[in-house]
Amino acid sequence: MKAIKIVGGKTLSGSIRISGAKNSAVALIPAAILASDKVTICNVPEITDTDALSEILEYLGAKVNRASESMVIDPSTITNKEIPSSISKKLRASYYFMGALLGKYKKVSMYFPGGCSIGKRPINLHLKGFEALGATVTIENDLYKVEAKELKGNQIYLDIASVGATINIMLAAVLAKGETVIDNAAKEPEIVNVATFLNNMGAHISGAGTSKIIIKGVTELKGCFHEVIPDRIEAGTYAIMGALCGSYLKIDNIIPKHLESLLLKFEEMGVDTEVGEDYISISKPNNYKPTSIKTMVYPGFPTDLQQPFTVLLTQSKGTSSVEETIFENRFMHVPYLNKMGANIVTAGNKASIKGPTPLTGCEVEATDLRAGAALVVAALVADGETIITNVEHILRGYEEIVEKLTNVGAKIEIVEID
Ligand code: EPU
Repeated sequence: MKAIKIVGGKTLSGSIRISGAKNSAVALIPAAILASDKVTICNVPEITDTDALSEILEYLGAKVNRASESMVIDPSTITNKEIPSSISKKLRASYYFMGALLGKYKKVSMYFPGGCSIGKRPINLHLKGFEALGATVTIENDLYKVEAKELKGNQIYLDIASVGATINIMLAAVLAKGETVIDNAAKEPEIVNVATFLNNMGAHISGAGTSKIIIKGVTELKGCFHEVIPDRIEAGTYAIMGALCGSYLKIDNIIPKHLESLLLKFEEMGVDTEVGEDYISISKPNNYKPTSIKTMVYPGFPTDLQQPFTVLLTQSKGTSSVEETIFENRFMHVPYLNKMGANIVTAGNKASIKGPTPLTGCEVEATDLRAGAALVVAALVADGETIITNVEHILRGYEEIVEKLTNVGAKIEIVEID
């Protein structure tokens, strides 16, 4: 079994180049289906989630050519067939094949997606959107069949500003007849990146990045060239490591605006950062003030950074608090942080953290992607050796994490254990 071994206590300095955003790339790859000819996407992170999506594309008959971080997808050879659970379950983002195949072929049949077990994660809003466009949905066990004679624009109100539903409805609506309006749309930067991609292909989408997105249907989308935005969650994770162990640790190739909520929390805690046009540089302060975070949709504090940020809170003097409002089950890292020496008490969707507490290395398990990231953060600051098992979760979302951290002075390696 693969594990990550980290010997903590090292100072991190130098520069980490941030990869393309996972949560953007995982939507752009299925979206390529909508084009009539070749699409080139660059800055695609080399992580197992993007590998799994290539596998689905190839299973459908698309030609996928990957050279390092660029991916050329020729969707013209696709056959629209049922996507089996063995591949749909590999990740959450396989659900974007629903919107893309429905949009292009007016029909899709696939099994429920997989992904991190961080909550119930229903897809009722995705389906509500497809139905509003004229599709019928049938569900047998875990098999979702969605089809329409014709897709017609409509006004769709999202009860929750869901990232997945917003993107999936955009994918289904770009080739629909007439105008679709998504109200209470999610505003995350990844949504803007996907809308820009579709517009580069010839779609007419306006308002992405606001809570009202308007899509005027077109009859055809063409191939194009597009770039994935930098991963704000990967950047935020390394920035938190910098706040704990950094000496001028530079987080490079980022859009600092996407990290505003995190940077403001650093300021409250007394962590100094230097913010450049496309980088931040961060050093560990002598001590940290406690603070509270509440996860919110963008531009609020991202749920994906809640788990790594909690590690920083264990080192602040006094009581800090965390409120998780997006997912019901995002505290699975807490027992492991407590095993390492933290003093965290959870009650429902809230956690109270008393610090500072020294952390000590031990064997811990990555229960999901960001819980795994939190454990890497904790291991870097801990005394002694930490072994993190279930590393597959981490490798789904962090490109070359071992190499990137080794280059800035961490003692980290992948090992085989029994
Ligand atoms: N929700 C519903 N019904 C729906 C859709 C969502 O009730 O039809 C609920 C969810 O259960 C959740 C909330 O709405 O409680 C927000 O879910 P959302 O749809 O926004 O999240 P998602 O599309 O499942 C994406 C990212 C997550 C990230 C969230 C929030 C991808 C593949 N996943 O998930 O990323 O946490 O948005 O920003 O883009 C991660 O990278 O570790 C990760 C989990």
